[in-house]
Amino acid sequence: MKKINPSIIYPIENWQVSETAFDITTNQRSETIFTVGNGYIGIRGCLEEAGIELENHTLPGTYINGFYETAPIVYGEAAYGYAENHQTILNVPNALPVTITMDGEKISLFAGKITNHTRKIAFKNGLYERHITWTSARTGKQIAISFSRLVSFTRKHIAALKVQVTPINFTQADITIESALQGAVTNQEHDGDPRAGAAFSGQVLHTKQTIQENGILGLVQETRTSKLEIASGIKHSMPGEITQKTDFWSEKWHFDGSEPIEITKFISYVTKTENNSETLCTELTNASSLGFDTLLQEQTAFLTDFWESSDIQVAGDDALQQALRFNAFHLLQSVGRDGKTNIAAKGVTGEGYEGHYFWDTEIFIFPFFVFTNPEIAKKLLEHRYSLLPNAKKRARDLACSGALFPWRTINGEEASAYYPAGTAQIHINADIMHALKLYVEVTGDTQFLQEKGLEMLIETSRFYMDYGDFVEGRGFTINGVTGPDEYTALINNNTYTNLMVKDQLEFLIASLTEEIGTRFDITDTEIKQWEQAAKNMYIHRTDSALIGQDDSFLAKGKWPFEETSEAQYPLLLHFHPMKIYQKQVLKQADLILAMVLQSERFTAEEKLVNYDYYEPLTTHDSSLSPATHAIIAAELNRMEQAVSFFYYTARTDLDDYHHNVKDGVHTAAMAGSWLAIVYGFAGLRIKNGSLHFQPKLPKEWASYQFRITFQGRLIEVTTNFKGTTYRLIHGETISIFSDNNSVQL
Ligand code: BGC
Repeated sequence: MKKINPSIIYPIENWQVSETAFDITTNQRSETIFTVGNGYIGIRGCLEEAGIELENHTLPGTYINGFYETAPIVYGEAAYGYAENHQTILNVPNALPVTITMDGEKISLFAGKITNHTRKIAFKNGLYERHITWTSARTGKQIAISFSRLVSFTRKHIAALKVQVTPINFTQADITIESALQGAVTNQEHDGDPRAGAAFSGQVLHTKQTIQENGILGLVQETRTSKLEIASGIKHSMPGEITQKTDFWSEKWHFDGSEPIEITKFISYVTKTENNSETLCTELTNASSLGFDTLLQEQTAFLTDFWESSDIQVAGDDALQQALRFNAFHLLQSVGRDGKTNIAAKGVTGEGYEGHYFWDTEIFIFPFFVFTNPEIAKKLLEHRYSLLPNAKKRARDLACSGALFPWRTINGEEASAYYPAGTAQIHINADIMHALKLYVEVTGDTQFLQEKGLEMLIETSRFYMDYGDFVEGRGFTINGVTGPDEYTALINNNTYTNLMVKDQLEFLIASLTEEIGTRFDITDTEIKQWEQAAKNMYIHRTDSALIGQDDSFLAKGKWPFEETSEAQYPLLLHFHPMKIYQKQVLKQADLILAMVLQSERFTAEEKLVNYDYYEPLTTHDSSLSPATHAIIAAELNRMEQAVSFFYYTARTDLDDYHHNVKDGVHTAAMAGSWLAIVYGFAGLRIKNGSLHFQPKLPKEWASYQFRITFQGRLIEVTTNFKGTTYRLIHGETISIFSDNNSVQL
């Protein structure tokens, strides 16, 4: 197992994450950690008064999920059917800036004396807070400044920032506060890491219109190419002197320092599809008439509901406890809940992976939502369904029938410029269908299956039938693909892919009725082919329990791990892909993941043998990998390894294991920590429509507890040294299985 050296960066606290000192060198990381968002808007935890002193130690980022610009991908050597355009999430106008001066001096972390500086986010009310105590070197006057921020979970387009300034040792001073909306924003420049942000330099948004009405100061802007429009605006709790410049608004107030000051800035972003400027003004007017405290109450009520179904408790390890809540909180902050957006690999916290949606959604994040907030899971599937026309077109690009979902995308078009690790991962179809199946099993919502799911299921299956081949002596083969492990590309019969397709075809066949057959022009011959392919799906088995990850994997030489230094990981940044592809080395779980998702299709011996074979070959260079290993290690009673892998996935972001949290959080790894407890230590699997648990308690912990929703019930599972208790919180009686014994709840 790859060694990680956990080193705790932020204090361990139960319901919050905080920092108590400002460190410019790690500021960008903290900006990601302290992001507040609501799945639509995401505002990085940047300093409100940020100035030029921060130089490149800040990424003043505000993002709207699904708001992007496109540009043609320029290939040195193009070929037919390559993805045509980049899509990049855009940094939108910055509504954070607040400049405070006292007796002509700008209050900044780089001048005067700072006796207290804290930044934190709290998971129970979603509030970001920053407190500074600042003393002027010139006059000795001391003031306390607090900023409180939230992005409303209940009002999609609204955020708010409250500024409080309190004189400490004086009663008279010339204090000014200036609050701005800056529309001249740019994306982060590329730093050579392909996982970081990309494609645009310079300003992409140009202002079409300014808004000034009823105290609202706003900009309506448009992107150059995608022609998407965004309105952004601010409204303050008291009137001040207004300044307007190109792409810029500000409002300024003067105070005499005799009493505490409080100003709230209400912030709104609305994109074109929502009739922007009108909605912006209504939303801002409503929010400002309610006031900050009411918005905070709404936020707290929303989060109380969320934690009711989504909290996981681990007694005996406070660092893990904090991480589990931090992760669940960030997942909620990142996930699109409108059916028009999805959850990006980095949520709405940064520009890493350009704001793209991947299979991370369905395989890692979806289970968390379907078992805790199924209505959000449904929205994710609805979003995929809305992109089905693009997927059909993409299948045509590959000269195939049916539909092929894009490997990475925002708008439904393939945006992967490197097809061996992009389009070739055609398992994306089966991943989405796996989520659909799970959704139907967990919610019983067959209406969704009928109205939207089946069309996706049929069209994606048609793609596989066309892309794959019946080969004499082998059965149904799917050649020329890349599986989940991106250090092995363009191979034949990736076992993960083939098993997932087999499962999808079986799900399809079981869902068919005559009416469906007529509705989708399905012929008997077609059904027969689906049955044949499912039954005779080729799997690269050997004469032992060892299974090939694909047809060629076991014939390759092993990666020289002993000669690879710590500094050479991740391999993708230090070796040519050809060198990596020719060896037995994995970026992330592949066959091991199939053992989790298709658990019933492997014997206990196969699980053991293959775990022992593939685990040492895995670099975990992808943050998606440790969670899967934690689950299987727990199943195999390798508890020490399970706990280590779990620790790794749980604290990936809080401890910045991949040294790139500055570019955004790792939403799949975050969800992986939930999976590792629920699928791993509690051993949850659905078999024949029923819940099965096989709970185990790591010796380091006193207990763990979580809740899941299943077919209208809320069930609480608690495991401690005495055993496991299942409690039906609400809903009708249900039978579940614990260690294969039927239990009536
Ligand atoms: C992983 C992919 C993943 C992507 C986005 C890559 O490093 O290999 O499996 O989808 O990151 O998280």
